[in-house]
Amino acid sequence: MGQIVIIDDEYSIADALARFFQMNGFAVSTFQNPVIALDFIDKNIDNIDLILTDLVMPEMSGQQVFQKIKNDYPYLPVIVISGKATASDAVTMMKEGVYDFFIKPFDNIDKIILIAKKAIEWKETKKENLDLKTKLSESTVFQRLIGRSKKMLQIYELVEQVAPTKASILITGETGTGKEEIAEAIHKLSQRQGKLIKVNCAALTETLLESELFGHEKGAFTGAIKTKLGRFELANGGTIFLDEIGEVSQNIQVKLLRVLQTKQFERVGGEQSISVDVRIIAATNKDLLEKIREGTFREDLYFRLNVIHIHMPALRERTEDIPLLVKYFIDRFSKDHQRQIDGITPKALKFLMAYSWPGNVRELMNVIENMVILTKETILDIQHIPQNIVNEVTKKADFIINDEPEEDIIKIKAGISLEEVEKIYLLYLLNKYKNKAKVAQITGIGRKTLYNKLEKWGIIPDKNDQE
Ligand SMILES: Nc1ncnc2c1ncn2[C@@H]1O[C@H](COP(=O)(O)OP(=O)(O)OP(=O)(O)O)[C@@H](O)[C@H]1O
Ligand SMILES: [Mg+2]
Repeated sequence: MGQIVIIDDEYSIADALARFFQMNGFAVSTFQNPVIALDFIDKNIDNIDLILTDLVMPEMSGQQVFQKIKNDYPYLPVIVISGKATASDAVTMMKEGVYDFFIKPFDNIDKIILIAKKAIEWKETKKENLDLKTKLSESTVFQRLIGRSKKMLQIYELVEQVAPTKASILITGETGTGKEEIAEAIHKLSQRQGKLIKVNCAALTETLLESELFGHEKGAFTGAIKTKLGRFELANGGTIFLDEIGEVSQNIQVKLLRVLQTKQFERVGGEQSISVDVRIIAATNKDLLEKIREGTFREDLYFRLNVIHIHMPALRERTEDIPLLVKYFIDRFSKDHQRQIDGITPKALKFLMAYSWPGNVRELMNVIENMVILTKETILDIQHIPQNIVNEVTKKADFIINDEPEEDIIKIKAGISLEEVEKIYLLYLLNKYKNKAKVAQITGIGRKTLYNKLEKWGIIPDKNDQE
């Protein structure tokens, strides 16, 4: 475990806090001068877990300390401790991302330890995520794949891990979720010398598929005028991508099973067994387990294919990726179609984020391309969105078209107590209306209760606040 840095110009406070943290098993460094503290943090960053800083100090304010940390080390939590903070100070700091703040003198010092522990846990996950993001954005293989949601990051990580092995992979997911893109990424990262050969198993009749996969000998059937190599032979040393594996007939399933088990097969009309070294990736948007229950898909083949399973999430399960994808496709299609489109309005983006996207990324891509081509303006807006999307979204009861500014959304970290939530919310309202009577009315808690709460939290009202 790393250490906590405490910055307070008042020696007695810094010292008392330090002792308290040490008693609870933490390593602590204290500073009275924030400038020196920041220098220390830079030099020892790998060993620092948390910063506690006073707000008002002569050399620089706690807020400036926080800004500097946020800029250089965004994963490092900062807790502000202050002798006097107004509601608006507190709200501004929480909004900007200060982990928490405490008013001196501390009425509940054990609580500080608890919050410090939570802050350190938060740092660990945040840092892991940031490290992963940096690593992934450096990898060119993933640059084609837009999406940095947790679900997608987990997929990229799994892909990196399994790509170099020879294990068979089954990729499942709705249509348009990027199964083929992931198969390509796996092949590239596998560094297998051979090619990636793709076969769409749904596009061919059974006979054609068989000869496509395994090849045929001259004269094997009418029209087989010369020997033809199958896809498995072409993929030797590389990877075969069996798309829409759920559509394959029973007869071919048996043959595929044999290739998976023995790496051997015969060309159609041929006697001689051919051996290949091929990595198999299969994909489907069907529910194979359901097909096994129906008796149309072999269970043994399923287990052979499904050594590693990658499930691509539907776009509606990772809506946080929609803004990135929208921006990416606007840029791409404005270039392709030589249009000058600068972006999309927040309201239109909200619509796109609320839509269910049954066709996933492919559908989003087509919608944006259409919007880019059809609009005469430079910013995409609601009126450019296809009617079926507008209809579906406006029908949803929980989607209220909200013209209030974004700042009315208060973000709350999961894992804090109800009292903290109450504190953040009340401070937010106080800061917004600067009127206690109004805040009491909105929240329905009564003015007296509100005063008591503020007093308990040690909040000093702004001079300009109305009672
Ligand atoms: N994360 C992504 N970033 C950028 N483009 C993507 C992403 N995911 C998918 N696409 C694009 O969306 C389209 C559909 O992707 P892909 O063909 O891989 O989907 P699929 O899951 O194989 O769909 P289907 O089941 O219909 O075959 C492709 O043009 C692909 O380039
Ligand atoms: Mg596909």
